[in-house]
Amino acid sequence: MNEKIISNIPEDYQIDEPIPEKEPDRQEFFISLCRNYIKTYQEEGQQLTYAIVTFGCQMNTYDSERLKGLLERIGYREAPEKEADLVIFNTCTVRENANQRLYGHLGQLKPRKKENPNFLIGLCGCMMQEPDVVEKIRKSYTFVDFVFGTYNLHRLPELLFARLHENRRIIEVLPEPKEHVEIKGAKRKYPFKSGVNIMYGCNNFCTYCIVPYVRGRERSRTPEDILQDVKELVTEGVREIMLLGQNVNSYGTNFMEESAIISEKPDYGFPELLEDVCKVPGLDRIRFMTSHPKDLSDRLIDVIARNPKICRHIHLPVQSGSTALLEKMNRHYTKEQYLALVDRIREKLPDCSLTTDIMVGFPGETEEDFLDTLDVVRKARYDQAFTFIYSRRTGTPAAGWEQVPEDVVKDRFDRLLEVVNSIAHERCGRFEGQTAEVMVEEINAQDASLLTGRMENNILVHFPGTADLIGHLVPVRLTKAHGFYYTGELLKEERE
Ligand code: 5AD
Ligand code: SF4
Repeated sequence: MNEKIISNIPEDYQIDEPIPEKEPDRQEFFISLCRNYIKTYQEEGQQLTYAIVTFGCQMNTYDSERLKGLLERIGYREAPEKEADLVIFNTCTVRENANQRLYGHLGQLKPRKKENPNFLIGLCGCMMQEPDVVEKIRKSYTFVDFVFGTYNLHRLPELLFARLHENRRIIEVLPEPKEHVEIKGAKRKYPFKSGVNIMYGCNNFCTYCIVPYVRGRERSRTPEDILQDVKELVTEGVREIMLLGQNVNSYGTNFMEESAIISEKPDYGFPELLEDVCKVPGLDRIRFMTSHPKDLSDRLIDVIARNPKICRHIHLPVQSGSTALLEKMNRHYTKEQYLALVDRIREKLPDCSLTTDIMVGFPGETEEDFLDTLDVVRKARYDQAFTFIYSRRTGTPAAGWEQVPEDVVKDRFDRLLEVVNSIAHERCGRFEGQTAEVMVEEINAQDASLLTGRMENNILVHFPGTADLIGHLVPVRLTKAHGFYYTGELLKEERE
């Protein structure tokens, strides 16, 4: 890439102040330098725009909101992907089809480089932590402008500046760092709800999973930092928080920094954190994601039971119902232990919705193993299940094991889907006629006289109402269940 893409950057632009070494000051410095570039366009009447395309999980969604916050401060404004001057893909590599979707997108974007001389493409996220992927981008996708990984998201201003200023392709993918720099000031899709990372990485090494290789070892943030973030978010108007981690139930095993709370209470773990978050005034709802069944304690169930602000919804990935397969997956629980945990949850939290992730076609899966999975689905009666076909990930142990033939996997997947859907359909309708607290999200896209909101188990409810209720928790009578959503009516004015 040697043609000059952005034409009005002075080639001899000098940075005459010293560049701060410490974060986040360093990135603040680059934000102001980038802003100068964007201003030159604004002065000529051109507003540069961006779009971030997010693949994958809640972590990526929240990371993207923070990247958007940085770009807004630089002076870019959000626009649809088709129109934007800068498109960043925040990638996922958990399954091969996510990788293929990225390459498909990139192919389509190439012609836009010719149409728009300012057009920039950035790639970041999990897929970029794979050396083979970066090599492929380097060789075959030379029109990509900058690449960064999961450990240096906060460095976007510096990388963007380097791309704009030096006019060369920037590739910066780092190994796992000792310190983590938080990005403040996300641009949220909904101003009233936000994620909060409580930990990074994963230590579980399930034998099919690439996450531990691209997100590094488990590192917990201190309770002080997390509670501070939550309080700040509340002052910004946030009423619903999602505590995020690959395995929130093992929160507190490895802290990134010293913490007075932890020195005082060495047994402090996720249940204690959750309880402390509940005490922050001004929050209506608290969610968390994801729970590993091996670490979900009775202490946690008790904390949920006594705190009405914690949503009655647990996402509890089972992956398989076969004890033999679970062992090969390195999941550390048996079919019976999983079902006993479900029973304990149901006993103490009778209304709690349960959702899960299930995989079919893991290497060595027999018909018998698969029937065990169906058996667990029937017994656990999930409100919703995300079903996946096993995808071979290079570098993971299971990639080298004998794979199940494609037609067998496809057949099992279809059978699983049928059972999962019919149970989910029944389960979703179980609240018909009852009253539910609904967090109002937006005006209904199809009918402007309706509002759309979410129940605590994430099910959508549409009901007549006015825009002033957006961002508030309101009681709604669920008059009719329609498969996977409800229609209802507002009961009374907002609860304070
Ligand atoms: N193939 C298919 N599904 C996978 N998941 C993780 N790794 C793989 C893989 N290699 C699924 C698991 C996990 C969810 C986020 O993605 O079910 O819970
Ligand atoms: Fe992957 Fe297992 Fe860690 Fe989840 S717990 S991120 S499935 S290794």
